Amino acid sequence: MRHSSLFTAISTLFASPKYEAKYPINDLAVTPQMGWNNWNAFACSVNEHLLLSTAEKLNVVGLRDAGYKYIVLDDCWSVGRDGKGNLQYDPEKFPRGMKYVADQLHSMGYLFGMYSDAGSYTCANYAGSLGYEEQDAKTFASWEIDYLKYDNCFNEGLCGTPKISADRFRVMKDALRATGRSVLYAMCNWGEDFPWRWAHTIANSYRMGGDIYDSFSRPDARCPCTGEEGDHCSYAGSHCSVMNILNKAAYVVHNSKIGAWNDLDMLEVGNGGMDDEEYKTHFSMWAALKSPLLMGNDVNTIDAKSLSILSNPAVLAISQDPAGIPVSRMWRYYVNDTDAYGQGEIQMWSGPLFGGDQVVVLLNGGNRTRMMNATLEEIFCHEMGIAPEIKEDWNIYDLWANRMDAATAQSIIDGTGLAPADVYYNVTKLSFKDGLATGNPTLLGKLIGMVEADGVIKREVPRHGVAMMRLRRSKTRLRAASAHQVPLGL
Ligand code: GLA
Repeated sequence: MRHSSLFTAISTLFASPKYEAKYPINDLAVTPQMGWNNWNAFACSVNEHLLLSTAEKLNVVGLRDAGYKYIVLDDCWSVGRDGKGNLQYDPEKFPRGMKYVADQLHSMGYLFGMYSDAGSYTCANYAGSLGYEEQDAKTFASWEIDYLKYDNCFNEGLCGTPKISADRFRVMKDALRATGRSVLYAMCNWGEDFPWRWAHTIANSYRMGGDIYDSFSRPDARCPCTGEEGDHCSYAGSHCSVMNILNKAAYVVHNSKIGAWNDLDMLEVGNGGMDDEEYKTHFSMWAALKSPLLMGNDVNTIDAKSLSILSNPAVLAISQDPAGIPVSRMWRYYVNDTDAYGQGEIQMWSGPLFGGDQVVVLLNGGNRTRMMNATLEEIFCHEMGIAPEIKEDWNIYDLWANRMDAATAQSIIDGTGLAPADVYYNVTKLSFKDGLATGNPTLLGKLIGMVEADGVIKREVPRHGVAMMRLRRSKTRLRAASAHQVPLGL
């Protein structure tokens, strides 16, 4: 073949429809999806009023405009099928039907999420979609849903290898696509059959482990895997703590792709089982690992601290960063300060951001406040040779230092203050992508110092807390008092 015809053949190959799609599944979840799901706080107590009053409240406290766009209904909404096999919503819980809920949510500026299961029953024993995929996808489309969480209970033994699971979950993906409606597909098979290896060809997000529990580090027999088994967990279970989920995610999260995210499960912020530092850590890590951010609290009784965590634009800008690269765990050490749940540990996570910035998280899973250090060499550790970034100077922005104070948050909740989106950042007006591209200072956090080439970052980190930072190349070389030290509190 002559060179020119070889060139033509190659260009034709890349121009063929197979390569046309910009993202693996569809053009949704270009950044991890953000929203609210009822399960963690309400389980099966669902109805029209809960969804609509939550949407209304999210609007009032500014969380819709902070980016939380999906209102997702979980299990327990149906009463089975009619004589023709059509799924029926529970008329007591949803007296005006699902299309009405969708219409209301759409008119309020939200997108509507629905739940079903790739098995004969859902996890709470309601009708599942296995064998009814096309029919159910049509029903969901007729209700004008925008999102489907698709669970894995009662799957009739159709699991055990990646191919068997993938084939089962692909049926609903194809059925949704055939409706012509744009629907974000959130697979929930709890890490079974290694979805991080194949689910990016099927879903916009995929759960990588068992159900979350509102605890920072409490071990639980119902969540037997700890991460020590690498990515081989045979039983995902439930009641998994934040640290448990992170230690499992460390092995798989790098498989995330734009449009197909590892899902660490829904947020517990505001549900009462963790303290403020622990919730900040939970939220920071879910954002840095590019998990979907689905709030799981009762928004109608939200407290000031939870609001100021969930609305922090500097952390949300990490979650929604256009580069879409999750942080990696660069190191992990055990520490001697134990608590009721056993030995503590400390970790450092780091990853690149859009425009050449870097996010760094020092995580203190120990039982006391401690100084923590990370060298640039650790932060920019590359497999091959010395990373050039180590030889540069970096400004350090703290992503929690500008957190909204409790009085302001309370005034927003009471309806006497401005919503956070009006004070801080409104993504309905300016996307994170555009805000980052124009260097919006609200998204950067607070400049607290600089680390010079070959230097080390030192931060005091509270018990179960994080120091979460954005590093940005320093244009003006600020001389530190002593070489390679960070002048804190600039
Ligand atoms: C499974 C899922 C949860 C929730 C429940 C509902 O456990 O993992 O997120 O949807 O089912 O029954």
